[in-house]
Amino acid sequence: MRAEDLPLVRAWRNHPAVRQHMFTTHEITAEEHAQWFQRQQADATRRLYLFERDGRPQGFMHLSGVQLGGVCEWGFYAAPDAPRGTGRAMGAATLAELFTVEQVHKICGQVLQGNAASMRFHETLGFRPEGVLHQQHCSTDGRHLDVHCYGLLAADWRASQTG
Ligand SMILES: CC(C)(COP(=O)(O)OP(=O)(O)OC[C@H]1O[C@@H](n2cnc3c(N)ncnc32)[C@H](O)[C@@H]1OP(=O)(O)O)[C@@H](O)C(=O)NCCC(=O)NCCS
Repeated sequence: MRAEDLPLVRAWRNHPAVRQHMFTTHEITAEEHAQWFQRQQADATRRLYLFERDGRPQGFMHLSGVQLGGVCEWGFYAAPDAPRGTGRAMGAATLAELFTVEQVHKICGQVLQGNAASMRFHETLGFRPEGVLHQQHCSTDGRHLDVHCYGLLAADWRASQTG
């Protein structure tokens, strides 16, 4: 992701279909978004990817804690108008990059209660469910939502690639 991609990524992030599943759900201003982008540059373990297919941007992937042999965490969203299968393609491409180029040991994802697409997305990519943090997240409307934790080890991913 480059600075010129900021408006597009902010539009996706603020779309209700995306925003409703995030840990923070307020509408993000251009200034807040630019400051967030600036902060990411200061952390060498972060990666921001714009996922493209057929030359068209179709999704965003954020990674933290990326280092050799490390445990990293991802967060992502597909463009709200992206075709079905986009999430899976973006996820698979990111796993290949993280496990072969960056050589991390493990990737983790956290999914808020009610986000069936993301739970299925993780399972379909080979992640194991690692537990539920019950009523861990307080939403803006005052509800306490469960957080579902997923993890994928490099060894398990490698085994899945060889069939
Ligand atoms: C999560 C997300 C990236 C998945 O991308 P996608 O392009 O919709 O997903 P895909 O079409 O690649 O499908 C992946 C799997 O999820 C399933 N799926 C997709 N939408 C679904 C839905 N609404 N309910 C249940 N399962 C769903 C698909 O059937 C597929 O499973 P399969 O392999 O068994 O067929 C996308 O829905 C998204 O951006 N959601 C909003 C933001 C978000 O939730 N981000 C993640 C926060 S943890």
